[in-house]
Amino acid sequence: MNVTRVCTWGLGIALMIGLMPGAHAREPADEDGYQLWLRYTPVGQPWQERYAARATAVVALGDSPVLQAALAELDTGLAGLLGAQPPSASAALVPEGSIVLGTPASSAQIAARAAALGLAAAGPEGFVLESTQWDGHAVTLIAANNDVGLLYGTFRYLALMQRRESLEGLDIHDAPHLKLRVLDHWDNPDRTVERGYAGESIWDFWRLPGYVDPRYRDYARADASVGINGVVFNNVSASSVYLTPRWIAKVAALADVLRPYGIRVYLSVLFNSPLDLGATKTGDPRDPAVIAWWHAKCDEIYRSIPDFGGFLVKADSEGQPGPRDYHLTQAQGANMIAGALAPHGGVLMWRAFIYATEDRQDRVRQAYREFKPLDGQFAANVLVQIKNGPLDFQPREPAHPLFGAMPHTNEMLEVQLTKEYLGFSTHLVYLGALFSEVLRWDTFAHGPRSTVARVIDGSLEGHTLTGMAGVSNVGSDRDWSGSIFDQADWYAFGRLAWDPQADPKRIATDWIRMTFSNDSAFITPVVDMMLRSREAVVDYMTPLGLAHIMATGHHYGPGPWVSDLKRPEWNPVYYHHAGKDGIGFDRTATGSDALADYAPEVARRLADPAADDMKYLLWFHHLRWTDRLVSGRTVWDELTYRYSRGVSTVQEMARTWNSLKGDVDAERFNKTAAFLAEQQQEARWWRDACIAYFQHQSGLPLAPGIAAPEHTLDWYEAQVYRYAPGQGH
Ligand code: GCU
Repeated sequence: MNVTRVCTWGLGIALMIGLMPGAHAREPADEDGYQLWLRYTPVGQPWQERYAARATAVVALGDSPVLQAALAELDTGLAGLLGAQPPSASAALVPEGSIVLGTPASSAQIAARAAALGLAAAGPEGFVLESTQWDGHAVTLIAANNDVGLLYGTFRYLALMQRRESLEGLDIHDAPHLKLRVLDHWDNPDRTVERGYAGESIWDFWRLPGYVDPRYRDYARADASVGINGVVFNNVSASSVYLTPRWIAKVAALADVLRPYGIRVYLSVLFNSPLDLGATKTGDPRDPAVIAWWHAKCDEIYRSIPDFGGFLVKADSEGQPGPRDYHLTQAQGANMIAGALAPHGGVLMWRAFIYATEDRQDRVRQAYREFKPLDGQFAANVLVQIKNGPLDFQPREPAHPLFGAMPHTNEMLEVQLTKEYLGFSTHLVYLGALFSEVLRWDTFAHGPRSTVARVIDGSLEGHTLTGMAGVSNVGSDRDWSGSIFDQADWYAFGRLAWDPQADPKRIATDWIRMTFSNDSAFITPVVDMMLRSREAVVDYMTPLGLAHIMATGHHYGPGPWVSDLKRPEWNPVYYHHAGKDGIGFDRTATGSDALADYAPEVARRLADPAADDMKYLLWFHHLRWTDRLVSGRTVWDELTYRYSRGVSTVQEMARTWNSLKGDVDAERFNKTAAFLAEQQQEARWWRDACIAYFQHQSGLPLAPGIAAPEHTLDWYEAQVYRYAPGQGH
């Protein structure tokens, strides 16, 4: 009765709005992006009837905080999508059209059907979503071995409705391919975020544990909806304050909020924490007092947080202490801390992002040279966490040669969601395409089809401790990521960490459907725009395998001319080697020979300058400006052509978006349009500054049709950007 009244009222108001002068009939109500892809807006006809018939009641078998979280999501989701929450029903009387959730432990019927349902393949976190019969009634069954699988199955069920997919004849079996699917927040105790472009840290540690911001729960929902099951709260350049009793209590309060969503919490720790906290006289991992401190600290943490995930360590990198300080190997350092976590079932994620200024060899070879000989020496609960490329989250890098090179080591992939080197949150760049490129990279570690995806999912070498980490792009901004389209990178990260083989185009499509619209006239151009956006940024920033030519410190904007920084490998000129003779870093046998770090098949392929559409050309080769390439153009002409192509693509992206005005609410439309306008200007800035600089080196004229830079090189070099965000403290 109430529902009918509400609906009648709703209709009346809608009619009134429609009749109001000046009201835009097509334009949806404003949204600020807070709801992410979990908007649950009404499905409308004809879906309303079809879906409502398959959501007549909810039958929850069992009870736990995780199951309660799933039920709460069903309530919110169905109330939004269908206009009303279905009643809950008891197992004794399961109505036709119910949604039934249960595990073998909570239901004898599911236990009896476990084999037929194929629950063994679901593992600890997977689920089965099936249209089936239950006591003679047609139901939708969400079954899993554990309640977290029910939670993931619930999100999938709601996503089907959000994407207007059929709920008939369901037979979905899914399970994550990786064990650890972790977001790494680079957040500092003072709430600044290193490389964060979405406001302050969402973790308000100062007010914890007394005040627990309700936003944390929404964060957990978003993570769980894409299968993310781990969160590292703090920056890899870590403060040891998190290991003090007062802060452990704060972390425990956060763990309590995230736990019902299947999320474990982790901390980044400083390698020499006990020394830093004044508890020992050294950080030497061989010192009995140091070892005892770590054991006692882990005992203390696990007393408050029994399911604590473990630690993440950045050691011997960019000023961080590490085992090298004590003339020990990375494995010796890692294993000492891992030993303190092991009795509690905790894991240690040990980063391979290591390079040293006193090491004169090519920076991109250093981690490989240091880690590869240690294969087999890391403890069983250690994962070596490797960035996608051997340098540092550039718009494009070849895959890190360590993937597949340490068969006896748990190797984990680290990608960066926050766009440190890709225009911060203002530039629209869909990173699903970038992540997927590295996941599909064939390492040839065991012949063809030895992709990075298969290295990290453990199938190549039979590892079971597997994972993928993403450096978070979430902050205190109302829309979480600083831009609506950056939400897609959070979404895509979760989906790819769940299934590294997933198709980035499919992921983008799903995200658009849930975030904006199910109208194919909207979806098709937006997917296209997202997929092209990654190539666009490569073209207008670092085409043909160039890398690290960004401005100093904040990394925003071009700086190919920079040559005066303390460490050689911090300078852009170190990477592009541009001069009168040509451009590019010779990493073949005549140069640094970094090619030799790849499997012979890969090295042979990349030794050919024509390989892979010349994506990695100047990464591996130093060429003369006038050398002719497979495209028929000279190196110089190809470079300027690609820079220009990048700018044109961004112009097309902006045109596409502007043509969709009215299909999206004004608030999200305008924000995106404003960012795209800025991206157009900045793409042009990048192109012009780089062409001006490289022309200064090459001394060559621009080919016909290639516009001259707007300003002189001096002008570009004189631009200074102060107060750029994301530089921590
Ligand atoms: C980059 C980034 C740093 C970060 C580092 C890391 O160098 O600029 O801010 O600390 O990566 O991954 O450790």
